[in-house]
Amino acid sequence: MSEYKVLGREDPNSIESILADDAIDFGTAVHATHVGGDAIFTWDYERTREGLGKLYERAKTSQWNGSTDLDWSIDVDVEKVAIEMQAAIAQLQDRLLSLPNSPLKSWGEEQWTKLAIEAFNWRMSQFLHGEQGALICTAKIVETVPWIDAKYYASTQVMDEARHVEVFARYLDTKLEGHYPVNPALQLLIDDIIADSRWDMTYMGMQIMIEGLALAAFGFMHAFTQEPLLKQLLRYVMSDEARHVAFGVLSLQEYYQGLDGKEIRERQEFAFEAALRMRDRLMMHAVWEQCGIDRKAITRMLFEVKKPGVNPFQAALFSKIVPNCKKLGLLDAGDGWLRDRFTEIGVIEYEDAPDTEVEYALLDAVAQDREAASA
Ligand SMILES: [Fe+2]
Ligand SMILES: [Fe+2]
Repeated sequence: MSEYKVLGREDPNSIESILADDAIDFGTAVHATHVGGDAIFTWDYERTREGLGKLYERAKTSQWNGSTDLDWSIDVDVEKVAIEMQAAIAQLQDRLLSLPNSPLKSWGEEQWTKLAIEAFNWRMSQFLHGEQGALICTAKIVETVPWIDAKYYASTQVMDEARHVEVFARYLDTKLEGHYPVNPALQLLIDDIIADSRWDMTYMGMQIMIEGLALAAFGFMHAFTQEPLLKQLLRYVMSDEARHVAFGVLSLQEYYQGLDGKEIRERQEFAFEAALRMRDRLMMHAVWEQCGIDRKAITRMLFEVKKPGVNPFQAALFSKIVPNCKKLGLLDAGDGWLRDRFTEIGVIEYEDAPDTEVEYALLDAVAQDREAASA
């Protein structure tokens, strides 16, 4: 490779670099970041993009109300839900425990329970911050995308994301104790997306990468929890998110057809960097530290465990990102740079997992059932 450095790091897996990024402070009250790109007015109001038009119609009839459609009177047993959820990463915990000299060997039930509760609070907090990122990114898409059909659709997503922020904030405030600040790897990615002046990069970073991860993580939690309020909340949010990822894939498929080799390569690099940020975000440093495990030690241990499949959140993340990159033609474009990178980090095996179009059909069916039930 030339002098291009992934994430500006000598080695993308450098523990020092990962920890340096993880130490960035994004403030306690507000965080200001530069917005790149021009607001584009279009005088072409013709509705030429049928796929986007259909999604827009679907979005208009799929709105739900976070204050009245969810039963907020339900009492939540946090410890019980946290332990249910932690079962999702039982295999990862076992692997970390079995490492030679693992500091987890001395842990008793109390510490494992604390880890489960902290991890639950942390995940819900990151969803909250990520949803705010989506709210801001989608508002940016309304401004920067040149197509009227996309502006219409994106405006419905702004409303969806506001609702998601609202319901996650309410769950955290009224059902859980303990919030976490935004994970730096997540916020660094969101800041990059917002700073980029090319409108399609917002889609790539948000609709494909961050929402791909969100959809995967929500699906996982939905499968593991029996808590009725959270289960319903996640189901509602997921049916919106599937539409959002579909919006990204549909728009980028069209736009990428008109890009040259150099421009495509820039998108491949952006996709890979975003994927690494998402990987680093899943290391959950703040949670381990809260439970007495040093950030450096846990990062080393996570690399020692190696195979991403051992962390189901990571497996779920790449099983969304890799097939979507393939669908967008990014995996093999040019000299197959992105395929090589995904091979190096051991996630190419997910290339044939179902892409988001399949998932959209499935989750939209859920939305239709909900409508039929309430009719
Ligand atoms: Fe969302
Ligand atoms: Fe979304």
